[in-house]
Formats: sequence, C-alpha cells, structure tokens
Amino acid sequence: MDSRRTVSIIGTGAYLPEKVVTNRDLESIVETSDDWIYSRTGMRERRIAAEGQATSDLGAEAARKALADAGIGAEELDLVIVATLSPDMFFPSTACFVQEKIGAKKAYCYDLGAACSGFLYALDTAKNQIASGAVDTALVIGAEKMSAFIDWQDRSTCILFGDGAGAAVLRAGGTGRGVMESVMGSDGSLANLLWTPGGGSRNPISHELVDQRQQYLKMEGREVFKHAVVRMGDAVVQVLEKNGVSADDVKCFIPHQANIRIIDAISKRLGVADRMYTNVEKYANTSSAALAIALDEAVKDGTVQNGDLVALTVFGGGFTWGANLLEWNKP
Ligand code: ACO
Repeated sequence: MDSRRTVSIIGTGAYLPEKVVTNRDLESIVETSDDWIYSRTGMRERRIAAEGQATSDLGAEAARKALADAGIGAEELDLVIVATLSPDMFFPSTACFVQEKIGAKKAYCYDLGAACSGFLYALDTAKNQIASGAVDTALVIGAEKMSAFIDWQDRSTCILFGDGAGAAVLRAGGTGRGVMESVMGSDGSLANLLWTPGGGSRNPISHELVDQRQQYLKMEGREVFKHAVVRMGDAVVQVLEKNGVSADDVKCFIPHQANIRIIDAISKRLGVADRMYTNVEKYANTSSAALAIALDEAVKDGTVQNGDLVALTVFGGGFTWGANLLEWNKP
C-alpha cells in the first residue's frame, strides 16, 4: 500500500504582460504574414514583457495570484521551484528573486531546467517532496521572458514565442487523488535540435559569439514537431495506464501550447479533440509557463471543476517530455 501523502493543488494563478504583439505587428519586424503564422501555428498574438520587467517579476505576479486563490500567505510556503529557460541571471536562481518579492521567508528555493517541460517537471518534483513528508506546502512556477532570448531577425523562431508566467500552490492532504503519478522522459542525444548554443560554459560569451547571434534560441522546427507529437501522445497513453484510468474518464486534456497542429495531431491520435484545451492563439508558446497558464485558465473559466480528471502533457528542449494526471480537488 502506498503510505505516501495525498497532494492537492489548492490555488493557481497566471500573469500575462500587458503588451500584445499581433502577427500583423510581426510583419513589420521580419518577412512574414498573419496568414503564414496562423495557418502553420494557430497563433494570432502573443504578450511581450515591458522593458525592465524580468522573469522573476512575471513569476512573482503569477505567484501572488496563486497564493490569493489558495487563501494562504507566502510565509506558509516551505518550498519554491521556478521552472524557466530565461532566468533573470545565471545565478542566483530566479526562485530566490521570486522569494524576495513575495516574502516567502521560510521557503528554500531553486530553479529547475527542463525547457518547455519545466512546469510539469517542477509539479512532479514538488508533489514528491510533499508526498514523502519532506515539506507540507510548495509553490511551483513556470515563468519565461522568451522575448529576451529569441532572435528577432530569425522569422522561423521569433514568431513562435511569447512571455508570461503561471503558478500553482501544492499542499499535503485533500479529498480524492489530487496530483497523481507522472510519466517523464528525456533524450539528450537530440539536444541540438532545440537549444541556445552560446553564452554558457561550452561557448562562453564573446564579441564573435554575439556577432554570430549564437546567444539566441535555435530550432529545427520540423524535427521538433515530429518528436513533440510522438512523445506527448505516448506520454498521455502511458500515464493513463500507470494510473489505471481510461481516456474516456478524463474531462480535460491540457497539452503544452506550442503549435495548434501539434495539438491537433495528438487529439486525433487519442480521439479526444472535444476535450483538448488550447490558448495558443492568444499567447503563442510561453515555454515552461504555457501549461501553468492554461491550467489556471481552464479552472477559472469552469472547464475544469472539482472531481474532474485532468491530463497534462509537455514536450521541450533536451529533449524532455512528460504527462501527469490530476483529480481536481481544490478546497
Ligand atoms: N513567415 C513566412 N515564411 C516562413 C516563416 C515565417 N515566419 N518561417 C519560415 N518560413 C518559410 C521557410 O523559410 C520555408 O521557406 P522555403 O520553403 O522557401 O525554404 C518555408 O516557410 C517552410 O519552412 P518550414 O520550417 O519547413 O515550415 P513548417 O511548415 O515546418 O513550419 C514551424 C515551421 C511552424 C516552425 C513548424 O515546424 C513547427 O511548428 N515546429 C515545431 C516548433 C515548436 O513547436 N517548437 C517548440 C516545441 S518545444 C518548445 O516549446 C520549446
């Protein structure tokens, strides 16, 4: 018998910067069109952070909303994890900056790197920390200022991403199953299909590197597309089996919001198009924030209600991927 504790999500929140950049706005930055972007990706617009706004600022806003939704104070948190590929700085962690902003004085804090899969990895990590009894209450954030790390001269990538943050508060206890078992995977042999090659210890920052624009995200879009479809689809099938649940029992499927055609391919394979949640049209791909923002929206707009089973799935650089099941049981 599993003696571990039940873990529940007791609050969620999201923050999107005010500035809206439409596909038409992008037409004046790179050679592209609203029609090309919408037909290939399902995106119409994205939010872009204000100058001076860093990832921890976005994360702290989402965190405040999640804490208010949970009805608890930041001082009750034992743990803060920020999933991000666009940290404020290499170090200290963005999580420590968030801690300072929200006043989570008793928490220990760290960042988690799993690219676009980060929020699900962080959710699973926090869930296991709580289930084991190591901590009681955790804040998990996916936050990204992608606009600072994409190449605004590269039309094949700059049109795809947006900025934003989402957060969830997890706590021991609750009725039902709460955050259930996850399925996770990684494949480092494919790292070069989606990465930022310059600026780290492999290729330290230099004038030459900057001239070559190696400090920006690079992607082989077609290859990433194929792997994303297979990995997210497989992960959902596996997580249903692991938890002894059928796809028919799931009220809502929330995938990583990278591209509507990736989502449609997964819907078709699983036969769940009527229950697939998407908001990629409004926010584009916000990397690790995307799942957290979509979960918050699905709960706030009433798509997800207490007692519902929710399947989450992600894919990102690394490659990394995963899926989780929630029995929604917010107190
Ligand atoms: N506007 C107009 N034309 C463009 C643009 C653009 N923004 N970008 C590329 N093109 C052109 C290319 O130059 C190419 O022209 P050519 O045929 O003359 O050489 C043509 O369009 C086709 O380019 P492809 O890259 O083959 O286009 P594709 O249909 O594969 O769509 C896309 C590209 C949208 C990037 C797609 O591959 C995709 O969505 N891949 C997955 C990307 C993704 O979701 N990544 C993130 C997942 S993981 C994570 O979230 C980190």
